[in-house]
Amino acid sequence: MARVVNFAAGPSCLPEEVLKQAAKEMLDCNGSGMGVNEMSHRSSTFQKIFDETEALVRELMNVPDNYKVLFLQGGASTQFAMIPLNLGIKYNKAAYVDTGTWSTKAIKEAKRFITVDTIASSADKGYSYIPKNVVFQGDYDYAHITLNNTIKGSHWEYIPETNGIPLVADISSCILSEPLDVSKFGVLYAGAQKNLAPAGVTLVIIREDLITDKPLDKTPLMLTYKTHSDKGSMFNTPPCWNIYMMNLNLKWIKKLGGAEGMAKRNHEKADLLYNYLDKSDYYYATVEKGSRSLMNVPFLTYEKDEEKAKKINKLFVLGAEKEDMYNLAGHRSVGGMRASIYNAMDIKGVQKLVKYMEKFAQENLRK
Ligand SMILES: Cc1ncc(COP(=O)(O)O)c(C=O)c1O
Repeated sequence: MARVVNFAAGPSCLPEEVLKQAAKEMLDCNGSGMGVNEMSHRSSTFQKIFDETEALVRELMNVPDNYKVLFLQGGASTQFAMIPLNLGIKYNKAAYVDTGTWSTKAIKEAKRFITVDTIASSADKGYSYIPKNVVFQGDYDYAHITLNNTIKGSHWEYIPETNGIPLVADISSCILSEPLDVSKFGVLYAGAQKNLAPAGVTLVIIREDLITDKPLDKTPLMLTYKTHSDKGSMFNTPPCWNIYMMNLNLKWIKKLGGAEGMAKRNHEKADLLYNYLDKSDYYYATVEKGSRSLMNVPFLTYEKDEEKAKKINKLFVLGAEKEDMYNLAGHRSVGGMRASIYNAMDIKGVQKLVKYMEKFAQENLRK
């Protein structure tokens, strides 16, 4: 089967040239006579890949020198616990903003360890917007936001004022999609499986003064940032293959102009899709203007009858598959449709989708 246009929300499509390069090196990486999957993480061949990957993260994200870059495991979900365990140590209290599924989960997990104040939420309108004018203040160890909400399709277009409270952000679904000022944050974390690499490695960028050797009582060593920071992310065996794939992917991003290049590419795709949705009398984007994600675009038809709408959505998704476009169903918790258009998706994929949407609308409007 030929490759399809893959709108998956994560794990999601990777650049074809990255996959081809990895396939080429599967049996012999850099003349070592073995593939990355087979070599010691302490070998010079792998260490070189590792160092280069960290240097690429630092370069592409413009990471200041007083931040550590860590390559961890356990997905972004493990960060939901590591953050309160390691940062919630003075006031045992943090402030969160609830912007939908992933931030709701982060809040629930943090509450197992510390006191959490949810200082703003967009639950009142089905998480279809990012709360405006959020300001954090008070005796909090940290403030937490989910910068891009993969499921609901919203995105913070401003960085909230925290009055000196370290700001922590989950950037799993928007990392390197556009430039981001790392110096405004205490911790940034991202599961890799959208814009960086296959699932299995989690990137953490943490300001050095937030790395403590006294996390909350009985915090496992593996969940202590200091453990990994002291050992250069090699306290135990790191996810070597995923780091290698990240390396290839970061080189691809660099070749295409880095974060600025990605922003241009991503705005072009997102503008095409949102402009079409905004002028359509058949579909609409579910997220308010000013809060829309560059990466995840959920949409619905104007059909009000719930049963009919469900049928139409299903027909839409099946029809798209017939034209080699996959994974357009909305998340199971929200329904409808969602197109995830991460860095690796090219404009042709979105053009093909819009063409199909026009055709589908015409056919179904006549019914
Ligand atoms: C914004 C966000 N945070 C956290 C997660 C959970 O990530 P993981 O599966 O790596 O634990 C996801 C997964 O899709 C996500 O999109």
